[in-house]
Formats: sequence, C-alpha cells, structure tokens
Amino acid sequence: MTRLNIVVGITGGIAAYKAVGVVRALVLAGHDVHVVPTEGALRFVGRPTLEAISRNPVHTELYEGVAEVRHVAIGQAADLIVIAPATANSIAKLAAGLADDLLGNTLLASEAPVVIAPAMHTEMWRHPATRANVETLRSRGVTIVGPAVGQLTGADSGPGRMEEPDVIVRAALERVLGEASKHEASAHRGDLAGRHVVVSAGGTREPLDPVRFLGNRSSGKQGIAIAEAARERGAHVTLIAANLEVAEPEGCDIRRVSTTLELQAAVAEAAQGADVVVMAAAVADYRPASVSEAKIKKEQSDDGLTLELVRNPDILASLGNAPHPGTLLVGFAAETEADDERLFELGRAKREAKGADLLVVNRVGWNEGFASDENRVVVIGDGGAVVARADGTKLSVAHDILDVVVAQATTAAPAATTPKESETE
Ligand code: CTP
Repeated sequence: MTRLNIVVGITGGIAAYKAVGVVRALVLAGHDVHVVPTEGALRFVGRPTLEAISRNPVHTELYEGVAEVRHVAIGQAADLIVIAPATANSIAKLAAGLADDLLGNTLLASEAPVVIAPAMHTEMWRHPATRANVETLRSRGVTIVGPAVGQLTGADSGPGRMEEPDVIVRAALERVLGEASKHEASAHRGDLAGRHVVVSAGGTREPLDPVRFLGNRSSGKQGIAIAEAARERGAHVTLIAANLEVAEPEGCDIRRVSTTLELQAAVAEAAQGADVVVMAAAVADYRPASVSEAKIKKEQSDDGLTLELVRNPDILASLGNAPHPGTLLVGFAAETEADDERLFELGRAKREAKGADLLVVNRVGWNEGFASDENRVVVIGDGGAVVARADGTKLSVAHDILDVVVAQATTAAPAATTPKESETE
C-alpha cells in the first residue's frame, strides 16, 4: 500500500469536531497525517486532540518554525491536501489565493491535489459569492465532496452539512491514488456482481401516541456501510432503512420503514430469492400493547405511568429457523458484556438461537458502538468458530464482513455464487 503524506486543513466551523474522524481514518489507513488547523478551528477542537489522533505535532502559527521555512515546507511535502470542514470564508480565501495564515501558505506552496468538504448554512452555500468561489476551485481541479443534505447546527436543515468522514476519506484517497486505488479496491470488488443483497439498517421505533415512540440509539451507520460496500462489490442492494440518522447511500434500492412490524414485512418481501440478508438494524423486541390515538396527557396518570408492552416477532429468527437454501443469513449482536470470552459466548448462543449462518458481535455501551464512525467486531460462523475479527472504519469493517460472506457463500451455498441463468448473457 502507498503511504501518503497528507495535510488535513481544518477551518473554523462546528463540523471541525468531525474532522477528527477524517484524521483518524487516514491514520488508520496507514498514512502520515499533518493537521493544519486555522485559529478558528482550534476554538472547536483542541490541539492535543489533533496531535494525539494524527500522531504528529500540530502547527498553526505562520511565524513559528521560520528556520525550517515551515510555511512552504508542509505544502511542498504533501501528496494530498484535504480541507474538512471548509467554511464559506475559507473557500473564499482559497479561491482568492490568500495566504494570511499557515493553511493559506501551505495551499499556495503546494502542487498536491486538493479535496475540500464544505460545511455551512444552506443560505451561505447557495450565496452567489460562494457558488462562484466553488466554481473557481472546481475549474482549478479541486475536488468538492458534499455538502450533504441534513440537519444543520441550528434548527434548520438542508444542503450544508459536512459529508461523513468515511465519504470524505474515500473520495480523497481515490483522488490521489486514482485508478490504482480503484484497482486495489476492485481486487475483491465485483465478487458480488449479479447477487441480491438485502441489508436492514437503523433502529425501529414503536409509537406510543402521535408524538412519542420507544426507540433505540442505532444510527444506521454500520448497516449503511454494509450496503455501500456490497454495492461497490457489484451487488444489487435493497436497503431497508429504519429511521436512519445519516444520509442514505446512493445506488441502493431503499425501502423506508419505522416499526418492527413494517421492517418485518419489508424484509420478508425483499428476502425472497435474495442471496444474502444482513440484519444490521436494531429491532425493538417489544411494542406498546396499544397506541393512543390522542396524545397521552399527564393528568390521565398522576402517579406515574405503566406501559404494557407485547413481544415483537423476531425477524432474524423466523428467517433463520425456516429453510433458507441459497440465502446466507447474517445477524448482528449488540452486547454490553465487557469480557471478550463471555461476549463471544453470547454471540455463539445468539447465532444458534436465531439460525443465522454468520453472527457479527459488537460491544455497545453508553460511549461505544452507536454514532461512531468506527467499529470493532468479531464474526462467528459454523460451529461457533470466530471466523474473522475486524477493527477500523465502519466501511472497512463492512468489507471485512463481506469477505467472510463471499468465502462462506462459495463453500456453503453454490447457488449464491454461481451467476443465475437469467443474469448471464
Ligand atoms: N433481531 C430481529 N428481530 C428482533 C430482534 C432482533 O431480527 N425482534 C435481529 C437483529 O437485527 C440482529 C439480531 O437479531 O441481527 C440480534 O439482535 P439483538 O438486539 O442483539 O438481540 P435480541 O434478539 O434482541 O436479544 P437480546 O436483546 O435479548 O440480547
């Protein structure tokens, strides 16, 4: 793998905290990362964090390190410059070629490809000045990633949200490694061509009344990463999306659902004839016995409120415990168990109980697992054996899981790997 010297410029917007995820993913991918934050960026994220995550010293001052001519040295040495987030102001400065800080100098002194991830309020993004600046940068060969559409810092939402770190990192590396990275990527990509992969992602919600629901903290990121990875490897992907908190991936057939019963119906339909079903969604095991037509008022129950819940169907178990020739079933187990061996045991028991072919176990907790861009999992296969361990961005974990899926499908279910007649020309 090529080890790149990458400069990550961070400018002063609230999305600066997410830039830490960009730096971390680049470091985990084996690159040498030098962070150049603006003064504004350091109001949102601290220098020690950036130094610890990048494993390199972090400088902002133009007049520090003059003897080593730092203001040009960083840019000259770079193979790639990524700016995340790029504020409207920093885009304007870049378009005008201003060099009043270390990041501006670094950019002017560099011939490396530049990839920027804009982040700002919708009005600023749509402003003619910003539009013109973005066009200028584009015409100079700068790659613009995003912005995504979604919830912004205030109550507003629309285009302006910084793209997710995974997406930025992928676009940035592809920009510089170009065809090479695509070939590297396609070494095993394409191995799901002609396959139908169904992925459930997110978390179900069970309504109590028109304004309230019982839900869970699943963001949907790992499931989306699996859908994206399967699509990259050539699969036709049906994504059953339960209340996703992140942008939906492109190129997938998306079915939106909210409750467990809706998820069950969508999975049952999509799973027919599917080669792989991945149940990454966090499914509510119980739902309120009745849903109030009107908002529940507190006057109705002065001394507290007792909810009666009924069991939901277990979607994975009903698929797994029925014959499913030619369909590989992948379940997830989200567990809070701290001890590794006991965690694996819970995974083994869950795999057996649900009749899954593979079970991906990950530890969750108040601070682990959910909205993070990274994950650490083990995959339990036949006879309860640990068949893979994966650690890294949710996208790289997704590919590691799919590696096992492909290997398993090849040995266990030839129907899932031999192109179907109708699909061969
Ligand atoms: N699952 C499902 N239907 C349910 C509950 C879970 O299909 N009603 C699936 C999930 O999508 C996941 C796997 O089963 O792939 C395990 O989910 P998890 O929440 O870890 O397990 P539970 O069966 O809910 O067991 P428990 O909460 O008791 O650990």
